[in-house]
Amino acid sequence: MPVFNERIQAALYERKIQGLTRTLHCMQPSGATDIIYNGETYLNFSSNDYLGLATDRELTQAWQKGLDQYGNGSGASPLVTGFSSAHQKLEETLCNWLGFGRAVLFGSGFSANQALLFSLLNKHDLLLQDRLNHASLIEAGNLSPARMKRFKHNDVGHLETLLIENALVVTEGVFSMDGDLSPLKQIKAVTHNKGWLAVDDAHGIGVLGEDGKGSCAFAGIKPEMLIVTFGKAFGLSGAAILCSESMGDYLTQFAKHHVYSTALPPSQAVALTKAAQMIQTQHWRREHLVELSQCYYEQLSEVDGFTKTQTPIKPFMLATSQRALDVSNMLRQQGFWTTAIRPPTVPQGGARLRITLTANHDKHNIIKLANALKQAVKGI
Ligand SMILES: Cc1ncc(COP(=O)(O)O)c(C=O)c1O
Repeated sequence: MPVFNERIQAALYERKIQGLTRTLHCMQPSGATDIIYNGETYLNFSSNDYLGLATDRELTQAWQKGLDQYGNGSGASPLVTGFSSAHQKLEETLCNWLGFGRAVLFGSGFSANQALLFSLLNKHDLLLQDRLNHASLIEAGNLSPARMKRFKHNDVGHLETLLIENALVVTEGVFSMDGDLSPLKQIKAVTHNKGWLAVDDAHGIGVLGEDGKGSCAFAGIKPEMLIVTFGKAFGLSGAAILCSESMGDYLTQFAKHHVYSTALPPSQAVALTKAAQMIQTQHWRREHLVELSQCYYEQLSEVDGFTKTQTPIKPFMLATSQRALDVSNMLRQQGFWTTAIRPPTVPQGGARLRITLTANHDKHNIIKLANALKQAVKGI
């Protein structure tokens, strides 16, 4: 008998007794800030739609226009016939905005990260990653032929002790579960002349820096490779690696997730170009987020579990998985959706609510959430 069934049952049972089983919820978006689940409406504080573009009508219309012009799917991988003028325009828009020679498109940030590490590294290389990097980067590092070491979170001193010639250093710009910023200026300074730096700015692009150029612009540095994902501030999905022309040529030849994967629908590329333009010009979205962040601070800074961040990601620390689930459930009863994040996504003892703000929220929403959260933590 094959072992697979037994393996599956054992793994599911283990998850269950650890209280770590994850549940897929079927959600219906409702308006700009709400979601409907099981017939009930909740104010959503768990999306990554930081700028509120996922439900923006202007963006929907751009996508619809793209559908009329280009039809439904791309029909092939980029090097076959899947690459169109819509993809080209998106790449050019990203290069001009972010100041790189090339942009190479991918279906997701997960695949962009894997493609980068798998195609660039060989067995003689050293890969240095912040220990809190996203699963896509850590997994790719483990599977790549290079030797991987993880430096302590945001610890430039530790990174420096590990650095040798020809290392690839990889960090996130904004850490997805903690909402804190990487010390990019210092990391760039120690990496310079020794190795290359790649920054995954999934959570910084659109949100930080002049015209939403992201964490690197905010820190005043330019890494060798910048990964931007389109599932967060862009309100859509997909990703790009921004790099030099020669690195772009290299990825076009050797990045298997690019070469052997169907190109994004061209209509989506049209929508992404529109989103990039909206991000650059609609400064009010970032300004409003800053006001909301200040309001969140004023409401909750005295409450145990509060964590101060410069980003719309507001982890509310609850230590154990049970406490995180309890508070999340209490908030749900009050009409707020705040997902509990538990190990292994975060370290043991680091269970939390990952509260996220979006430009579609208003101060009234934040005050209501803060009041409910204060009540909930009193009750546990
Ligand atoms: C830091 C980081 N990188 C990469 C990804 C993966 O991006 P995508 O959702 O486009 O696959 C995520 C997604 O959550 C992320 O948080």
